[in-house]
Amino acid sequence: MALNALGRHVALVGFMGAGKTTMAPMVAERLGRNWIDMDEALGVDIQALFEQGEEAFRAIEDPRTCEVLAASEPAVIALGGGAVKSEAVRAALASRAFSVLLDVDVDDAWERVRTSDRPLARDEATFRRLNDERRPLYGGAADAVAADVDGVILAAGGVHHELGALERLGELVPGTGPVALVTDSTVMGIHGAAAQTALGDRLVSTHELPRGEAAKQLQVVERLWSELRLDRAGTIVALGGGSLTDTAGLAAALYLRGVPWVAVPTTLVGQVDAGIGGKTAIDIPQGKNLVGAFHWPARVVIDEALLETLPERERRQGEAERIKTELLAGRALDVRAAAAYKTALCLRDPRDRGTRQWLNLGHTFAHALEAAADFDLPHGEAVALGLLAALRLSGRDPAPVVAALDPQPVEVDRDRAWEALLRDKKRSGEAINLVLLGDDGPYLEARSPDEVRAALDTLIS
Ligand SMILES: NC(=O)c1ccc[n+]([C@@H]2O[C@H](COP(=O)([O-])OP(=O)(O)OC[C@H]3O[C@@H](n4cnc5c(N)ncnc54)[C@H](O)[C@@H]3O)[C@@H](O)[C@H]2O)c1
Repeated sequence: MALNALGRHVALVGFMGAGKTTMAPMVAERLGRNWIDMDEALGVDIQALFEQGEEAFRAIEDPRTCEVLAASEPAVIALGGGAVKSEAVRAALASRAFSVLLDVDVDDAWERVRTSDRPLARDEATFRRLNDERRPLYGGAADAVAADVDGVILAAGGVHHELGALERLGELVPGTGPVALVTDSTVMGIHGAAAQTALGDRLVSTHELPRGEAAKQLQVVERLWSELRLDRAGTIVALGGGSLTDTAGLAAALYLRGVPWVAVPTTLVGQVDAGIGGKTAIDIPQGKNLVGAFHWPARVVIDEALLETLPERERRQGEAERIKTELLAGRALDVRAAAAYKTALCLRDPRDRGTRQWLNLGHTFAHALEAAADFDLPHGEAVALGLLAALRLSGRDPAPVVAALDPQPVEVDRDRAWEALLRDKKRSGEAINLVLLGDDGPYLEARSPDEVRAALDTLIS
């Protein structure tokens, strides 16, 4: 089974009326990919062909589907409803695609197709019989099941969102090999026992790292490596906030030259941001997150029930990132939708070379303020201020950020903040590259140092 759609097509499979043709372009747009509707790509009159019998249709559809799946450029493909009947198509799906079954209630599907001219939807009894026949085939061919666009995107990124998912962690960690649980002392005390129970016999060891940013140190990773007893069939499960998943993810990236890991984010920051997308890192004296690796988690398990124990102070950090994501998406987003937004951007640009940088909206200013405050400024507050500056420079009304986050100017040294901003990696030559927000969404643009400094100054009291 494929774990995600990195480098693979997203193949939408399912019965007539499941929404494959409707959803394919929507998923493709979010992932920045082309989309292909197999019914159209056949280039034949399907109805006329079916008049000659289903065999005649399959003789054209099967090889054409395999051909489309063989193309190297990953796309989003809406498969014909019966394509998975073919063994050759199933083999091509297994090697080239991440297949998502669009689950639909048979009554809803019939309502959608009863007035269409589809050859296999002429009478309800046949339609229902066919649905019963095909269900097991779909189930066997699919890597995941989804019911909406966000669901397809989350599945394609290996992200599982479910209230109460922690209790099913043992099933959600891919494979059957041993598991090492990595967490911090606070989270261990609250959710550790439930995670251990859920992991059952697969759990071979539990490791506690320091809480918060203190985990992101080389000596912490070294100690973890020295404690681990996994072989290459093993998986590291990281249960905690962004600091914990960043550190455990990096440990997994390098241990035995890379073992799989599963992120179970327990903070709002983690669930909408840090746990997703495979960026792992630790800090060094020269700066935060300067040593790391791209190591996409085998699965991300998002259980919003875990947030119930999160202190308000920590929740506010996550709110800033969620509001940032809403600004980028241009619409209101709950945790699941915000996670899906980040998942799509990361699938689109896993190595952070282009569109993924949109996630840095406001962060150039935030990092500068944090550095000038010797990191004694909560990241969420710095991001809220950074969003104000980014919106002002974009010529947009900052009212939504004021209403949601109420950022207050901070007392830091103006020159130190400016120097920190200039050291930021986004600088090219004299102009400063920023993520800004237009009517059609985010874009990258170079702005003059004078403009940027003026915007920074408004954030400082
Ligand atoms: N890799 C990425 O893409 C990415 C993105 C954003 C942020 N980050 C990183 O994430 C880190 C910040 O992560 P964070 O904001 O999640 O905080 P955190 O991981 O530092 O955790 C903060 C505190 O919350 C506690 N905690 C965690 N879950 C809890 C729960 N459910 N109930 C009660 N207490 C709980 C922890 O024990 C800790 O004391 C930063 O180091 C940042 O660089 C990484």
